[in-house]
Amino acid sequence: MKLPQIEAEHLLLTSFSAADFAGVKAWAGDAENIRYMLWGPFADEAIHAFLQVWAQNAALETPTGYQFNVKRKAGGGNIGCGFFELSEPAEIGWVIQKEYWGQGLGAELGRALLRFGFDTLGLPKIVAHCDAENTGSHKLMEKIGMRRTNLSLQTRQGNAALDGALRNELTYETERQAG
Ligand SMILES: CC(C)(COP(=O)(O)OP(=O)(O)OC[C@H]1O[C@@H](n2cnc3c(N)ncnc32)[C@H](O)[C@@H]1OP(=O)(O)O)[C@@H](O)C(=O)NCCC(=O)NCCS
Repeated sequence: MKLPQIEAEHLLLTSFSAADFAGVKAWAGDAENIRYMLWGPFADEAIHAFLQVWAQNAALETPTGYQFNVKRKAGGGNIGCGFFELSEPAEIGWVIQKEYWGQGLGAELGRALLRFGFDTLGLPKIVAHCDAENTGSHKLMEKIGMRRTNLSLQTRQGNAALDGALRNELTYETERQAG
């Protein structure tokens, strides 16, 4: 299915367009914001290119994954991204622009991604990975009911903002509830 629009309590998850450049640059271009992620920080040209790809992906009937444009209902513009990989098992990820950390928006995004995976797509299981030192991300996973299943030592490619060395990675997962 094409990328749907999802409404949560404070957030709207929708598709990207070129108009989201400034919002996306605020997190994708910021070394602190993406230090525990696998990629970035990105220069302007790369962000323009990503926006084009993400907008095209949103229109595909059989995509390999979704990149949700995360907007605050109250504020309007982009403040992050929700990633949904249709792998086996499906994998989710998130980034919120750092000015908005610690307000519960990451957990709200995570819950919206789980609902989409379980209720809309009917998937049996969803996993997520993070750098073992990424406290915000693994606390988010625990907050949304995912459970830790693995700690893998020095297997995660560190971001260039963290010198690129191999890092420890946590895996979390959760299953669809019966009924
Ligand atoms: C991970 C992330 C999305 C969390 O977003 P958020 O909006 O701060 O999430 P929440 O406000 O729902 O907080 C989730 C929990 O983590 C805690 N937390 C958030 N950031 C934290 C930090 N930097 N250090 C310690 N705890 C943190 C919150 O206090 C909360 O726990 P609590 O309910 O017990 O207080 C955000 O920190 C982020 O975008 N990080 C950069 C991108 C990234 O690393 N993504 C993950 C890649 S795997």
